[in-house]
Amino acid sequence: MAKILILNGPNLNLLGTREPAVYGADTLDNIVEELRSLAAVRGYEIDAVQSNVEGELVDALHAARTTISGVVFNPGAYTHTSIALRDAISAIELPVVETHLSNVHAREDFRHTSMLTAVCLGVVGGFGRSSYRLALDALITHLEG
Ligand code: DQA
Repeated sequence: MAKILILNGPNLNLLGTREPAVYGADTLDNIVEELRSLAAVRGYEIDAVQSNVEGELVDALHAARTTISGVVFNPGAYTHTSIALRDAISAIELPVVETHLSNVHAREDFRHTSMLTAVCLGVVGGFGRSSYRLALDALITHLEG
């Protein structure tokens, strides 16, 4: 079965307790479980990785090259800073959907810039946990051509 990677960056392991007014009350496990069910209905398996370490996220993207069809990626704060993640996304030549729970453009100025959007298939943000659902749906639709 084809696989999709759900990749999450720093602090997203704390979802459920982290600033619930901004990020909602769901845990990352809840979100990934829902994505697993939705993907299965459409014939895809989910791999899920979360790391607080930039280099580990780079490694996860590299590892995806041979086994994964596409990536739903919430890079957390590295969105706004990481040239290393941008280069990794360019290098692997897989479709990557940049995904955010919050509407980063309605928040602090430093969140208005993404190092990654230009090398991603697209970006979804501002819909809470539904951002992940929408990103997964768009990615699968893209993969099915
Ligand atoms: C985030 C937005 C980022 O600005 C922030 O640093 C995060 C989460 C989101 O999902 O809304 O950690 O990516």
